[in-house]
Amino acid sequence: TTLEAFARGLPKAELHMHIEGSLEPELMFALAERNGVTLPYKSVEEIRAAYAFSNLQDFLDIYYQGAGVLITRADFKDLAVAYFERLAADGGVHAEIFFDPQTHTERGVAFETVIDGLLDGMAEAEERLGVTSKLILCFLRHLSEESAFETLEQAKPHLAKIAGVGLDSSEVGHPPAKFARVFKAARELGLKIVAHAGEEGPPEYVWEAIDLVGVDRIDHGNRALEDEALTQRLVADGTTLTVCPLSNLKLCVVPDLTAHPMRKMLDLGLKATVNSDDPAYFGGYLLDNYLETAKAVDLSRDDLVVLARNSFEGSFLDEAEKARRL
Ligand code: ADE
Ligand code: ZN
Repeated sequence: TTLEAFARGLPKAELHMHIEGSLEPELMFALAERNGVTLPYKSVEEIRAAYAFSNLQDFLDIYYQGAGVLITRADFKDLAVAYFERLAADGGVHAEIFFDPQTHTERGVAFETVIDGLLDGMAEAEERLGVTSKLILCFLRHLSEESAFETLEQAKPHLAKIAGVGLDSSEVGHPPAKFARVFKAARELGLKIVAHAGEEGPPEYVWEAIDLVGVDRIDHGNRALEDEALTQRLVADGTTLTVCPLSNLKLCVVPDLTAHPMRKMLDLGLKATVNSDDPAYFGGYLLDNYLETAKAVDLSRDDLVVLARNSFEGSFLDEAEKARRL
C-alpha cells in the first residue's frame, strides 16, 4: 500500500486543534451571509490570499476576525461537524478540541451558545461518524488573569462536559506564570491542564508550564529542544508534546518543513504527536500533517505508528479506553 493509504488507515487521535481554526473560508462566507456580518473580503479566493503569515500574531489577527461570523448555537455546531467530517475522512477516531470562549463572550455571544453548539456537533460526530471527542477550554493569554478567572467561573455549570483547560494566543510576553493561580483553581475543579509553550516563546516558558503550572501536556514545545536539561526532563517525565508541523511552517517557526524537529524529537524519545492546530488557515488537516512531515523529515511507517500510539497514550481518555484503542 501507499504511505498515504497506510497513514489514513492508522487509527489516530488529534490532541491540538482549535475549533475556531477549522473555519474554512466557504463556511466563513456562508455564516457571514446567514448572520448579516460584513467581512473585509469579497470572495473565498480573497480570504485564502490573506493567509500569508510571518508570525503567530499575523495569524491571530486574521483568526479572531474570522471567528466574528460565529454567532448562533447552530453556527458552532456546523463548525464542529465540518471538522469531524474531515477528521473521519483522515482516519481520525478521537479529538480533544480547543475552544476560546473569550473570543466569543467579548463580542456578546453567550458562553452557553458556544459550548452547547460545540457539544451538539460532538454528539452528532460520535453518533454518525463514530468519532469521539473531548473539549478543552483555552484561556487567551493576551487577556488578563481576571478575565481568565471569569471564564473559569462561566465554565463551572459545564464541568462534566469539559476535560481540561489550556492556554493559547500571543505567547511572547504572556508566560504561563501569569495564569498559575487560575490553573491551580482549575486543577482543584478536577480539570486537566495543557498550555501552548515553546512555539515562539523561550524554553523558560516550557519550564514554567511543567514546574509552576504542572501541565499534563505541552502544546507545541518546539523550543524546548534549545535547552538540553529541559529536553531530558520532558523525556524522563514522558510528557506528551502536541506538535503541529504545517502550523510551524506557516507561522515561520521553521523556515522549511525539512528543518522541522519532528525526526529529532522521536530520536530523543520525546512523546511527540502530530496535529493540525488551525487546519483551515494552515493548509492541511491531520493526515496532511502526517504525510508532509513524513516526506520532509523521512519518517518510516514504524515512526507513524509510534506517533499514532503517542496520540492515544497522551490523550485524556481513561485507561480502559486507551487500552481498547492501542
Ligand atoms: N490560537 C490558535 N492557534 C494558535 C497557536 N498556534 N498558537 C497560539 N494560539 C493559537
Ligand atoms: Zn495551537
